[in-house]
Amino acid sequence: MSNVQNYIDENIKTFEKQLFELLRIPSVSTDSNRKGDVKKAAEFLIDQLKTIGLDKVTLHETPGHPIITAEKCPHDDQPTVLIYGHYDVQPSDPDELWETPAFEPTVKNGRVYARGASDDKGQSFTHIKSLEAYLKTGTELPVNVKLILEGEEEIGSPNLVPFIKANKDLLSCDMVLISDTAMFGEDQPSITYGLRGLAYMEIHITGPNRDLHSGVFGGAVENPANVLCEIIAKLKDEDGVVQVEGFYDDVEPMTPEMRDAYKALPHDDEAYKESLGLKALHGEKGYSSLERASARPTLDVNGLWSGYQGEGAKTVLPAKAGAKVSMRLVPDQDPDKIASLFKKHVESLAPDTVTVEVEAHHGGHPVVIDLDFYGLKAAAKAFGDIYDKEVLFSREGGSIPIVADFKKVLGVNSILMGFGLTKDALHSPNESFSLKDFHRGIKTSARFLEVLPDFVEQ
Ligand code: BES
Ligand code: ZN
Repeated sequence: MSNVQNYIDENIKTFEKQLFELLRIPSVSTDSNRKGDVKKAAEFLIDQLKTIGLDKVTLHETPGHPIITAEKCPHDDQPTVLIYGHYDVQPSDPDELWETPAFEPTVKNGRVYARGASDDKGQSFTHIKSLEAYLKTGTELPVNVKLILEGEEEIGSPNLVPFIKANKDLLSCDMVLISDTAMFGEDQPSITYGLRGLAYMEIHITGPNRDLHSGVFGGAVENPANVLCEIIAKLKDEDGVVQVEGFYDDVEPMTPEMRDAYKALPHDDEAYKESLGLKALHGEKGYSSLERASARPTLDVNGLWSGYQGEGAKTVLPAKAGAKVSMRLVPDQDPDKIASLFKKHVESLAPDTVTVEVEAHHGGHPVVIDLDFYGLKAAAKAFGDIYDKEVLFSREGGSIPIVADFKKVLGVNSILMGFGLTKDALHSPNESFSLKDFHRGIKTSARFLEVLPDFVEQ
């Protein structure tokens, strides 16, 4: 085994260079102009997987972006780990806020800055390099390993669910291993055992048949931008409680044990506030920041448009207004049900002076993973060994919708062993990933595969 760990130490600079090559490819899944780049990223990974010597390396075309699978399964009597990751990234905009270009990886203070550095190219690449360390040193893998990499996570994995349903044998496994979450703090290994779900909506408000002079018509004609603001203002009350009728009906209440577990986690509201440059924190009354950001459901405007956005002033009464709204969900909220409750609620708030249309985008189910699962225990052992610190277990507020589908379709738990940090600035300008965590992540992945057989339940 020390062979494997030594190989990682000796080759870390090469691994970094390869990661930077991947980060240079702008594989933005939501942007149709980038379709070729998403494919390029997939081909880069295919090449990597073939070079390190995995079996059955395959690029599967889909109606959207490709899915990659590969495997190395030398055992009949050992568990099979399916490693999942995504090679697509969020858009880089607003580009002017990046200190160095989003797709020119730049190293500063031990961190690489680039879109996808942490989410999820850097994190998922750790597993590829850990497999390389086994295969290139001729060390037999202690367990069976399969790999699935997708290019559509950031747009809700529309083609992955049908793919896993159609390829149950190819993907059959005992657990899924995912590095696409954050650690609880710097040098603090942590395993995420809960993720929120998502319902993503879009509101369109249409008023007059053209933009109007706001002096000539203002006062006599309803303004879609005003209506949009009024509707949005009614979606939450002053205590941060979502007003969509039925929104909380299926929410699993927090038990005293859950709340105690949250209290036991190291967290400092002052530092949190300062790190975000905020004057004050905000959220649902009666809950702590950590609870609000992971165990409670939310509603947030993600985008808003109407009227004149250019320099100076233009006196205009806009004909249209729109907003994108996301709701993060917790067990046992159902994304489809929440989407239809939202639609009904917004429509009920619409005055008859304008047309209000509500459309649902992608969604995802929330998940909570059983802490007794042996795979989680093995991951905690490996993570703790490499970071030389006891592992914390926490729930997180982000979503990886496919985790619920892995459970539903393949019947397996996922291990969320993330090496990122909140300060990695996922989805924001200047996303980054610590190269030290990249290195420790590769070592943790290798260690996990090594210790897993010791944790298998008889
Ligand atoms: N890596 C994130 C999810 C995440 C980040 C989970 C931090 C926990 C902590 C993932 O790539 C992501 O951003 N997912 C999207 C899913 C959506 C587009 C369906 C999200 O959460 O917005
Ligand atoms: Zn993401």
